[in-house]
Amino acid sequence: MSNMKNDLRELQQGLEKTGYICDTPTATVLYLAAALGKPVLVEGPAGVGKTAISQAYAEYYNRPLIRLQCYEGIDEAKALYEWNYKKQLLHIQAVAGHELNVAEVEHEVFSDEFLLPRPLLQAITSPEPCVLLIDEIDKVDMEFEALLLELLSEYQVTIPELGTVCARSIPMVFITSNASRELSEALKRRCLYLFLDFPDPELETRILQLKIPGIQSELAGQMAAALRSFRELDLKKTPSIAEAIDWGMALTLMGLETLEAEAVLTTLNVLFKYREDLDKARNIVLKEQEV
Ligand SMILES: Nc1ncnc2c1ncn2[C@@H]1O[C@H](COP(=O)(O)OP(=O)(O)OP(=O)(O)O)[C@@H](O)[C@H]1O
Ligand SMILES: [Mg+2]
Repeated sequence: MSNMKNDLRELQQGLEKTGYICDTPTATVLYLAAALGKPVLVEGPAGVGKTAISQAYAEYYNRPLIRLQCYEGIDEAKALYEWNYKKQLLHIQAVAGHELNVAEVEHEVFSDEFLLPRPLLQAITSPEPCVLLIDEIDKVDMEFEALLLELLSEYQVTIPELGTVCARSIPMVFITSNASRELSEALKRRCLYLFLDFPDPELETRILQLKIPGIQSELAGQMAAALRSFRELDLKKTPSIAEAIDWGMALTLMGLETLEAEAVLTTLNVLFKYREDLDKARNIVLKEQEV
């Protein structure tokens, strides 16, 4: 147990060096996922570091990051592999005059040389272990999810013309979701679950200090407190860590060392992207100014 504590601290420090701060529960999920060889399913609102965590992980372990960006309508050809039709055609034309039978030509054009591996196949055939990021899985349909399931449980892919391709190394897999729809129980069962939420003020202060060169620690702390009260409002779009960092950049550019209501009012449009949200935020800043 004490060894694990050391490992966790080491992991947290290593990730921090790459620019990502994670609390101990988060580091524990990463640690266990790697130890158990299971994917991590990362859920949470927009802009809280779901994508960034896999990038930091890959950088820390110096592993290639292979990313599958999901979108509505993505299919096997874009995710797994497709045949290079143009090259196959050219080859068929080139050998047309020669004494080859159909079976021989077929055998030639359905070989490795004519295969275009897409991210999932790339990840399992990678000669060195990689980090596979399957980003925004909630955008795909159930059918595609089933395909992933097979890959993630067997770590192998069957290509009808070639046979079964087994993984050369098991990748560390991150699957992210904005929870725009429920994922299947079968997928959840295979993963360790990590819910990333808006950070507490202490964690956010550290993130701001890490991400914004030259920011005063007092300003970072005050920003984190202000962000917490903004997030308690009923908003269309709650400001995330991404917007918090932009806000800190803006305030530092303005030469601020502590948070002043005036500066907050002029920079609210960095944090809020809807008119109604802007109005609500402006109101609470003005109210606080009165007291
Ligand atoms: N814990 C953290 N430590 C350092 N930086 C962080 C942390 N969390 C988020 N960030 C920063 O916040 C920004 C947004 O993160 P990211 O793009 O990973 O969010 P996301 O959850 O994937 O959002 P979306 O759902 O919109 O894709 C990035 O610049 C990232 O570096
Ligand atoms: Mg993302």
